[in-house]
Amino acid sequence: MFSFGNIKIEKALLLAPMEDVTDISFRLICRELGADVVYTEFVNSEGLIRASEKTHKKLRIVEKERPVGIQIYGSNINSMVEAAKIAEEEQPDLIDINAGCWIKGVVNCGAGAGLLKDPVYMQNMVEGVVKAVKLPVTVKTRLGMDMNSINILEVAKRIEDAGAAAMTLHCRTRTQGHSGIADWSWIPRVKEVVKIPVALNGSVFTAEDVKNAFDETGADGVMIARGAIGNPWIFLEAKELLTTGKISTEVNIEKRIKICLRHLFLSIDVKGDRRAILEFRKYYSGYLKGFYNAAQIRAKLMTLLEYKEIEDLLLKYLEELLNYYSTH
Ligand SMILES: Cc1cc2nc3c(=O)[nH]c(=O)nc-3n(C[C@H](O)[C@H](O)[C@H](O)COP(=O)(O)O)c2cc1C
Repeated sequence: MFSFGNIKIEKALLLAPMEDVTDISFRLICRELGADVVYTEFVNSEGLIRASEKTHKKLRIVEKERPVGIQIYGSNINSMVEAAKIAEEEQPDLIDINAGCWIKGVVNCGAGAGLLKDPVYMQNMVEGVVKAVKLPVTVKTRLGMDMNSINILEVAKRIEDAGAAAMTLHCRTRTQGHSGIADWSWIPRVKEVVKIPVALNGSVFTAEDVKNAFDETGADGVMIARGAIGNPWIFLEAKELLTTGKISTEVNIEKRIKICLRHLFLSIDVKGDRRAILEFRKYYSGYLKGFYNAAQIRAKLMTLLEYKEIEDLLLKYLEELLNYYSTH
């Protein structure tokens, strides 16, 4: 059971925090398609304290996406405490501490996965944040810095002792980055040493992967990252597979295009036309991946600035695709 605060979810499906991907519109479309909990991208604690407008914008959440977590990162305990208080003012359902980011600039400053180098310091940081806010605090971390220094069992105990409500384990080391197959076998080992809910993350790209992850590890939740990009219906498929043992809602070309348009519509609703349409361009490649003539259509979409033009182009393209695939 994945739980935090008053929220309790059996076999929870979580949308991972992803920089430049999990904005409000993406979180909303994933919630509509079955994600149980969604997370903002990581938000820099120093930027929040400096009252940087760009950083502060990343905290924005809307009612319809609840339950939603705001993820913060940083290396200085006082800054993280202050940043957590600022994030709490936006009234998310939880605050998540990033202890897993592998990017050099972040790690070298002692933030993200850099915290794995000093589990006592990480514990103090989590404890400081837990004490400073009323909201549940969760932590997302990795196995360790590298294969020779896997310390997740100690780290998990310290996260629990610090008062975290739950944790997510990205089953890779910092040096692995996002490559290689995540080692899910650490989930049952972590669950043996802590009582707080543990969500599994890493190498979950299909609904079948979600089911296998639960079946093989006994995880309380499964957090999906890259598997949801251009494929947000993975949550719906996984839910169906978990509850009925099969997937009957086939996601065909028509549904993919319509979900893409729905996602764009949600984006316009929260950001306004121009900003939404420009920022949405990064999502087309995911939605049109593998389709006949996708590159040409994508190039055209990059030039359009009106929702109606985009809708017309995509619906015309849908007709072409249906014709093409009926004869090929
Ligand atoms: C584009 C991108 C941005 C990411 N940004 C974040 C982030 O802001 N915070 C975080 O904790 N992890 C971030 N991650 C890591 C993912 O949350 C996840 O841990 C990782 O992709 C492994 O899961 P996967 O194998 O299912 O993709 C990011 C990953 C990607 C691909």
